[in-house]
Amino acid sequence: MINVTKTFLPDKQKYMDYVDEIFANGWITNDGPLLKRLEKRLAEYLGVKHVVLVANGTAALEIAYRTLDLTGEVITTPFSFVATTSSLVTNGLTPVFADIDPHTFNIDAKGIEPHITPFTSAIVPVHVFGNACDVEQIENIAKHYDIKVIYDAAHAFDVKFKGESILKQGDISTLSFHATKLFHTIEGGVLIINDDALVEKARYLINFGIEDEESIPELGTNAKMNEFEAAMGLCLLDDVEMLIQKRASIYERYKSELKDQVVLQELNEESTQNYSYFPVVLEDETQLLKLMKVFKDNGIAPRRYFYPSLDTLSYIEPKQVCKLSRAVSKKIICLPIYPSLESEEQSQIIDILMENI
Ligand SMILES: Cc1ncc(COP(=O)(O)O)c(C=O)c1O
Repeated sequence: MINVTKTFLPDKQKYMDYVDEIFANGWITNDGPLLKRLEKRLAEYLGVKHVVLVANGTAALEIAYRTLDLTGEVITTPFSFVATTSSLVTNGLTPVFADIDPHTFNIDAKGIEPHITPFTSAIVPVHVFGNACDVEQIENIAKHYDIKVIYDAAHAFDVKFKGESILKQGDISTLSFHATKLFHTIEGGVLIINDDALVEKARYLINFGIEDEESIPELGTNAKMNEFEAAMGLCLLDDVEMLIQKRASIYERYKSELKDQVVLQELNEESTQNYSYFPVVLEDETQLLKLMKVFKDNGIAPRRYFYPSLDTLSYIEPKQVCKLSRAVSKKIICLPIYPSLESEEQSQIIDILMENI
């Protein structure tokens, strides 16, 4: 089966050398030496100041909301993975959806302001498929209304905006390091925090709110990353540039052969790409369903991503309708893209698509 992605596993011996080190240290979780090494290397690699590793990308979002003391309403996008919204709801926050730009698939910054009320405490945009949001306009709005910005940057590993890491934007950016991601730690996530004062608070929050043996200043949770996960990250960091290059060549081939056949994502021209996903927009859901069946019959599994639009979730109150997000989510799929996808497999995917649209 050719899936939409395939987990990259590093050289086994290299990983085993780290496992030997973990056994020699006798330290398997709780701010271990490998985790500290990974935080330092990631900060250098990404060109950011503070990196706080956590158990997964969902926990990273939740810790970000709690670090910034969000309350009331949060303006976010309906076109994302469910965790962007569900993490708000589980923290007692009300998601208020601003519809998307149907070309970039990101929150339409022009649509944010009308949703701001005295109860709005933050904006949570997503750099969808690694495509940078309109960060300057979002920053202007946040400054004007004195509200926070947390970027769900789960897809934006290594993306740069105007030559600098996109992760420096907003108050906090979060990433997912799940096994399906470009860079992964099996399960894992990270907070990129720009304000020095907030880093310490986030570190308490991921460790039950504990500061030291005598003091528990915050209401915390358990969101720690362990040493085996950090070891995976240390291995992958050596390979990540090569992984991005391999994805780039598949991405460019798909683009050159498909750009006149299907609608592609409109990319932010001031930012770089990491080639994590290759979304294509089809004519309608009927065409999508027919195509998905042909792919499946041929052992290929593109993904309906993101579907359904999050404004349709049953647990969202008050009910909201985002027409553009609903329309896009019904007719978009992500084609398989991962470093070991063979040239013949790419040809097969392209041929099936061309023949069935
Ligand atoms: C946009 C987005 N946000 C959040 C998450 C949640 O990350 P995790 O699966 O690591 O909890 C994901 C995961 O796929 C995602 O794609």
